[in-house]
Amino acid sequence: MLYYSHSGNTRVLAERIHEQVGGALVELQTVNPYPPEYDTMAEILEKMVAADAIVIATPVYFYMMAAQMKTLIDRTCSRYQEISNKDFYFIMTAAETDKDLLQRTLEAFRGFTACLNDPVEMRVIYDTGTWNIGEIKSTRAMGEAYEMGNNA
Ligand SMILES: Cc1cc2nc3c(=O)[nH]c(=O)nc-3n(C[C@H](O)[C@H](O)[C@H](O)COP(=O)(O)O)c2cc1C
Repeated sequence: MLYYSHSGNTRVLAERIHEQVGGALVELQTVNPYPPEYDTMAEILEKMVAADAIVIATPVYFYMMAAQMKTLIDRTCSRYQEISNKDFYFIMTAAETDKDLLQRTLEAFRGFTACLNDPVEMRVIYDTGTWNIGEIKSTRAMGEAYEMGNNA
């Protein structure tokens, strides 16, 4: 079993199940906590609170957003109620050619914005069929991104 738990609830559940099933029990831990004296996230949050529009772009990893982007979203927790009245644009880059299969990644973004006050979802760009480095330069999504920037 693999689990991560910050405040302990998931740990209780995992340990309860582990008692029943046995086997390996692996707890994910934050090995290097962010230094309190210089927190880059505080700067990013300040920009997110001040922005009119927020564009979130991530590669799709196992049909989820990349862990780095999810971590950033989780770290908005201290000020997410101040991220109000923003226009949102979502961009996903994937090797997959069927954009319907990227819906669960999109829904995860929407899970974030559903927690905010008065978000407006402006546009979603699916960059599909991009696997190798550089392939994106000739995709339709590049044109859409250009147009999105022009109209913002
Ligand atoms: C760990 C990993 C998992 C991936 N999982 C998926 C996936 O589930 N579906 C998909 O379509 N592409 C997947 N890909 C392909 C990437 O989403 C794709 O190559 C993307 O264009 C990478 O964007 P980047 O160059 O900005 O990192 C995966 C790539 C990696 C490295």
